[in-house]
Amino acid sequence: MKQSGTYQEPHYRYDISLLRKTLKKAKAAAEVHATELYYAVKANNEAVILKEIQQMGLGADCVSMEEIERALQIGFPAERIVFAGSGKTIREIDYATAQNIAVIHCESVEEFDIIQEFLESNNSTTKVALRINPDLEAGTHSRISTGKKHHKFGMPWEDAMELISIHKNIVGFHFHIGSQILDMTYFENLSSRIAELLLSTPLDFKTEYLNMGGGLGIDYEDPIKNNIADFEGWMSAIRKNLPKRTYPVIRLEPGRSIVGQCGMLVGQVQYVKHRETCPTAILDIGMTDLLRPMLYGARHKITTVIDSLTLIPQTIAGPSCESTDVFGKNYYLPELNRGDIVRVHSAGAYGSSMRLGYNLKSPIKAMYIYSESKTTFNANYKERTKVAV
Ligand code: LLP
Repeated sequence: MKQSGTYQEPHYRYDISLLRKTLKKAKAAAEVHATELYYAVKANNEAVILKEIQQMGLGADCVSMEEIERALQIGFPAERIVFAGSGKTIREIDYATAQNIAVIHCESVEEFDIIQEFLESNNSTTKVALRINPDLEAGTHSRISTGKKHHKFGMPWEDAMELISIHKNIVGFHFHIGSQILDMTYFENLSSRIAELLLSTPLDFKTEYLNMGGGLGIDYEDPIKNNIADFEGWMSAIRKNLPKRTYPVIRLEPGRSIVGQCGMLVGQVQYVKHRETCPTAILDIGMTDLLRPMLYGARHKITTVIDSLTLIPQTIAGPSCESTDVFGKNYYLPELNRGDIVRVHSAGAYGSSMRLGYNLKSPIKAMYIYSESKTTFNANYKERTKVAV
């Protein structure tokens, strides 16, 4: 096969300079809005990425015992780790409370009882906040909306009020309405809803902790021009309608907006099938490496390194044994041929962290990190092969 450049195998490629710039912007906005940032580890859990984020002083928002373990290994202090998730197991709750992480976001009355038991048996300093289902639209893809009544997340406000009337160790509330939200009105609505709900807390209850989740979207259409998300707009919107009094702790949990644009998935055309409608290029990367297009119909920008001004519509597909293993149709690109390199942009968030083991295809092992100085290294795992495009 024709080899393009020094391509050896499919890989993720991360622009660490862009990650640093993004973190700086996010931190600057957070400072203006007196907000603490806890990075949602689920978006990307590569050690090299987490280290950068930890060094910038963000906390970690984890959703499994393994994420907490990794965050601790990376160097996030326990008091800067929160634990969320709708199905925490006893083993996980035991572990989190034994580690004295900062806060557990409790999602139901049943879960509260279990947390309480382990807080006591582990003599833990971990605090509890209640995740509320605010019954709000998020204006995003239905499969990544989380804040409506019918969603499995959080508890009704009435349950939360009952819990705080009985238990004294609840510090506040957690909300998250969905992901990839670009219309700031939805965040403004969330702040109005929170303001309204807080009015009904009992007089002797002091809300010390308010976590308003993540959800800020990125520009998948033009990731090159708009490579940094609108942190300032997000933080203004989400605080807009909150009561003016200050809360001791206001937190946000961005995931996608921190890492989405710094990552790219790189693969190679294996075959081109000339169909009547338009050619289908079959790559060595697909749903097992980046599931978003197949799971949510997400459209990622795709580019090639081929130099041609003539663009033709093509279908870009992966190699798995599923008809849905397709990145998308009507990608206007120079005509692809076997051996050509293809880059899938905005793959830093929910890319490598959602890899599948389907068809026993080995997960992508190669990771290529670059920074402004253009030095390349594989900081993460020794066995990862150096590759260049
Ligand atoms: N906080 C909570 C409670 C969450 O459930 C999530 C994401 C976040 C924070 C971070 O949200 P972000 O800032 O990344 O939008 N796999 C999907 C996205 C699922 C998001 C799950 N929860 C995708 O690829 O679009």
